Amino acid sequence: MADGIKVSTTSDIPEGEGVTVPKEVTGTVDDIAILHDTDGTFWALNDTCTHADASLAEGWVEDGCVECPIHSSKFNLKTGAVSGFPATEDTVCHRLEVRGDEIWLFPNETPPA
Ligand code: FES
Repeated sequence: MADGIKVSTTSDIPEGEGVTVPKEVTGTVDDIAILHDTDGTFWALNDTCTHADASLAEGWVEDGCVECPIHSSKFNLKTGAVSGFPATEDTVCHRLEVRGDEIWLFPNETPPA
C-alpha cells in the first residue's frame, strides 16, 4: 500500500472529532480512526479501543489525545500509548499525510517519530 489511500478531506472532519475507515478499505486487522486534534493536526489510530468494543472515532479529541466514548480511557494520538485508564494496552498508529485538503492514509506504516 505504498501509495496510500485517500480517506477524507480536512473539511469533512471537524476539530475534536473523527471518522472511521473500515478495515475492508484499509486492509488492516481493525478499522482505522482518522482524528482531528484541536491544534489542527490529523492522526490515524486503530479504531477499536483496546479496553472493550468502542469506536475511538466516536470519542473526544483534544490536546494530543483521544478519549474513549465508553469508559474514558485516553490514548496519545502520536504514539498510541495509553494515557488514561481503564485501558492498559497501547493502540496502533498509522502514518497519514495531509496533501492540500486531502487526507491520505498509509495503513500499517509507522508514523515518523
Ligand atoms: S471501551 Fe474504551 S475505555 Fe472501555
